[in-house]
Amino acid sequence: MTVADLPKIELHHHLEGAAPPEFIRALAAKKKINLDGVFDAKGHYSYPDFLGFLQCYTDATAALSTPEDYYDLTRAVLAESAENNVIYCETFLATEFCGDGDLVAWREYLSAIQQAATEAEAKDGIILRGIMTAVRHFSPEANRKAAICGAETAGDFLTGFGLAGDENSGAFADYKYEFDMAKEAGLRLTAHAGEWGGARAVRDAITDLNVERIGHGVGAIEDADLMRELVDRGTVLEVCPGSNVALRVVNRWEDHPIARLREAGVLVTVSTDDPPFFHTTMNHEYEMLEQVFGWDEATLRATNITAAKAAFCDDATRAQLLKKIGE
Ligand code: ADE
Ligand code: ZN
Repeated sequence: MTVADLPKIELHHHLEGAAPPEFIRALAAKKKINLDGVFDAKGHYSYPDFLGFLQCYTDATAALSTPEDYYDLTRAVLAESAENNVIYCETFLATEFCGDGDLVAWREYLSAIQQAATEAEAKDGIILRGIMTAVRHFSPEANRKAAICGAETAGDFLTGFGLAGDENSGAFADYKYEFDMAKEAGLRLTAHAGEWGGARAVRDAITDLNVERIGHGVGAIEDADLMRELVDRGTVLEVCPGSNVALRVVNRWEDHPIARLREAGVLVTVSTDDPPFFHTTMNHEYEMLEQVFGWDEATLRATNITAAKAAFCDDATRAQLLKKIGE
């Protein structure tokens, strides 16, 4: 079996961040929206650094303005995921892009995304779940609305609440109210931490927001005590090595701490984050893990078992995933 054939579970994925550039370009052309600066001469997303990436990402979403656009986006993105043998994906959703925090509008966007997910599941067997996401560089009002919309629509499809954006802006504790509200509504919790903010950020996310998973979390490698704590707590890291290389969190794949974290007993999983922005796919991530760190089929399968156990889904879906992975 090649890595391409392995059934894969992806826990860290942003819906707009997975938009194929040609999809965004076609939509922008149809609506006569000017996206100068978003693409390079080859038609790839173009940005100079992390903050530039966040801006490019936001600029590209100008093309996405209706629930129908999100239906089409979800179908396009899931077709690509299914080609990579992804059998289950959790995608981050942001109300700011989907109706600007208005609950009635959000329900329409969510329903369109869910409809696309249901059809993709019937066609390719791929299962999608959504994680409502507060974004650190959006306003506190926008993030409060994200929590309200998330809490109001928590259910079988929308199963999680997260925090993304510029980790250097504000403190984790600033989001405690939103995370408490989400938890009370039954949403499971994750936060981007330790992508840029080091071990300190990972510790803060766990202590201040009570999250059960960490987005990225690679900064934990700096702190042996924290790594032991992650092992003891069973905290799962949603690691996105290709993203970290593309955004220069690390300089080269060879420098990436995913193998060292795993050897220390930390529970790691593998995701793409924003695949076309980072010129990656799930197959590419797995090929690199095989080439650079010598991860064999058993190791990659074990990572997927970790992901299935940490997935924000109901137990019947989890059992189905574990069976497909061959547990
Ligand atoms: N939003 C989309 N991708 C992100 C990343 N890698 N870090 C923070 N926020 C993001
Ligand atoms: Zn992310």
